Amino acid sequence: MYLDNAATSFPKPESVYEAVLRALREVGASPGRGGYRSALEAGRIVFQARECIAGFFSIADSSRIIFTHNATAALNLALYGILTTGDHVVTTTMEHNSLLRPLYALEGKGVEVTIVPAGSDGIVLVDDIRRAVRANTRMIAVSHISNVCGAIQPIRELSEVCSVAGALFLVDASQSAGHIPLDVDHHHIDLLAVPGHKGLLGPSGTGLLYVAPHVELIPVMQGGTGTNSTAVKQPLTMPDGFEAGTLNLSGIAGMQAGVEFIKGVGLAALHRLQCDLLDQAEQALRGISGVEILGPEKSTDRCAVLSFTVSDVDVAQLAAELDHSFDIAVRAGLHCAPLAHRTLGTLPEGSLRVSPGWFNTREDIAFFSDAVVQCIHKIRSQKGTHEKLHP
Ligand SMILES: Cc1ncc(COP(=O)(O)O)c(C=O)c1O
Repeated sequence: MYLDNAATSFPKPESVYEAVLRALREVGASPGRGGYRSALEAGRIVFQARECIAGFFSIADSSRIIFTHNATAALNLALYGILTTGDHVVTTTMEHNSLLRPLYALEGKGVEVTIVPAGSDGIVLVDDIRRAVRANTRMIAVSHISNVCGAIQPIRELSEVCSVAGALFLVDASQSAGHIPLDVDHHHIDLLAVPGHKGLLGPSGTGLLYVAPHVELIPVMQGGTGTNSTAVKQPLTMPDGFEAGTLNLSGIAGMQAGVEFIKGVGLAALHRLQCDLLDQAEQALRGISGVEILGPEKSTDRCAVLSFTVSDVDVAQLAAELDHSFDIAVRAGLHCAPLAHRTLGTLPEGSLRVSPGWFNTREDIAFFSDAVVQCIHKIRSQKGTHEKLHP
C-alpha cells in the first residue's frame, strides 16, 4: 500500500497514463523543432498544458511558466537565475535541501543568506522574517508547506514583508500545489516552484517555475531553443530561452491531464479527503503510547503529511517493518530537510512520515494504523527479549 505521496504521487489517474501514452505513441515529435504536422501537434500539446496550468494558479500569461524536470530544477533556476554577489536572501529552517543546498553554494559566490528559525511547531513567525530583512535583501524564499511536518506557512503575510522590503518572493509549492489553492496574484508570488509529479498528479520528470512579468531571470542553461538559432547568446525570451533542449512532451501531457483531473474532482474535495485521512491517522496514532505527532498542534495548521516519532522505537526500523510485514510504503528519516528536524527536535533519527493521496481510502488508513500498532509491539517485544538476554 502506497502512502508516500509527498515524495511522488502514486497511482496516477487513468487519464494521466493515457495522455503520456498518446504523446509517446501517437505524436512522438519534438515540440518547436519542425514545421511538419506531428511537431506542430507536439507544440500544441505543450501550449495547451501551459494554458491549463496557468489557469490553475491564476497566472495571466502562460508564457511565464517554464517547464522543468522537477521542483529542484525550478528552485535552482529561480536562485541561480536571480541572485548575484552582494544580494541577501532570507529563508527558514523548514526548507528542503533543494532550496538550502543551492543557497549554501551561492554563499560561496558572495550571496548572503539568513536562515530564520521556525518555532518548535514548524511555523515561521512573520515578525522574525521581517527582522531578518536588510537593505540588500533581494529575495525571501520559503516552502509553503513543510514536507517534514506539514506546517502551513503564512505566505500571504510573508508576501507583504516582501513588498515592503522590495524583495522578490519565492515560494516552494512542492507540498501545496494540488493540495490547497494557490493564486499567484492573491499571494503576491514572484516566483513559484512546483513539482508536476506530486500533488499535480503528473508523471515523474515534470515540474515548473512561474516567473512574474516584472522579474528578470538569467538562463542558467544554454542550448537549442528551436528559435533564434543564429544568436550566439542564449535568447532571453520566455519561456523558450529557459527551456533549452528537447522538452519532456509525454511528461508535460501527463501533467496537464493530472491538473485537468484535479479541476474535475475539485481541489476542495481533494483537500477534504486528504484532511479526513490525515485526521483518521492522527487519531489512531495518538492512541499509541510513546507516539508524538510533529508540527502544529491544530490539524488545520497542517496539510499533506503527518509525521511522528515513537519514544522507544527507531522510526527507520518501524518503516522497514511496515514494508516487510505489511507492504506499506512510508518514509522514515530526515526527508532531505535536516534543519527542519533540528527545529522540531528530531535529529538525528528523524521521523516517520505518512502522506495519503486521492486514491487512498479510510480502509487503507485503518490498515496502516493497525499495522503500526503491531509493528511497534513486535519491535518492543524483540527489544525486551534482547534486554533480558543481554542486560
Ligand atoms: C518541500 C520540498 N521542496 C522541494 C522538493 C524537491 O522536489 P523534486 O523532487 O520535485 O525536485 C521536495 C520533494 O520532496 C519537497 O518536499
